[in-house]
Amino acid sequence: MERIPEPDLMNEAAQALAYAEADFSEPHTYCIDLLKTSLPDLPKSGAALDLGCGTADISIRFARAFPGWTVDGLDGAAAMLAHGHAAVQQAGLSDRIHLIEAYLPHGSAPRDRYDLIFSNSLLHHLADPNILWQSIHRWAKPDAWIFIMDLMRPDSVDQAAQFVQQYAANEPDILQRDFYNSLLAAYRIEEVQSQLQQAQLSHLSLKSVSDRHYVLWGRL
Ligand SMILES: C[S@@+](CC[C@H](N)C(=O)[O-])C[C@H]1O[C@@H](n2cnc3c(N)ncnc32)[C@H](O)[C@@H]1O
Repeated sequence: MERIPEPDLMNEAAQALAYAEADFSEPHTYCIDLLKTSLPDLPKSGAALDLGCGTADISIRFARAFPGWTVDGLDGAAAMLAHGHAAVQQAGLSDRIHLIEAYLPHGSAPRDRYDLIFSNSLLHHLADPNILWQSIHRWAKPDAWIFIMDLMRPDSVDQAAQFVQQYAANEPDILQRDFYNSLLAAYRIEEVQSQLQQAQLSHLSLKSVSDRHYVLWGRL
């Protein structure tokens, strides 16, 4: 099945609200657990950059799991960031998590370079995937740790519809719609591998971790 792009920014108010109110505890806990096991040598403290941070749920979970670290989150959607700011404040993490509106590849981050760059579910939004890989080159310190998780495109639209039934049947319609569109927009592992080769990042490790997710990890 060919990739069917979806809009990159999640700027619809209803969409951002649905995302902010959703319970992502299972997939996002899994994401942080995979980050921990994939990068066992992460130091106790450092500065992390979360690309496409959205409502900051992953930033918050990371900051709780790694109390010595700070996180700067970048996202181009003001609607998502508004919920993110509220969530960070509610979590009592405003001193360690800072969210910035930046529409990649434009915009800037508070620091020139980071010890760790992570990103969950950004790549499938990007019509030009090189935006993610160039952002990593732009902001990673030499030897920085990298961790990316995203969806894999299924073999057919029928399989995408089946995944929506299997994993999101109880979610609001708008989340089911977004999940379906995201599955159709996702890159396949072999496509990501070829993107990495072109971006001089093919030494990073890449593997599927479920029927619909892959992770990518390593050091720059
Ligand atoms: C599916 S959400 C994931 C949010 C968050 N990482 C999470 O896992 O909960 C994807 C996010 O990427 C953002 N995004 C997409 N394209 C972007 C771009 N070119 N620059 C900045 N943010 C972008 C969207 O606005 C959205 O908030």
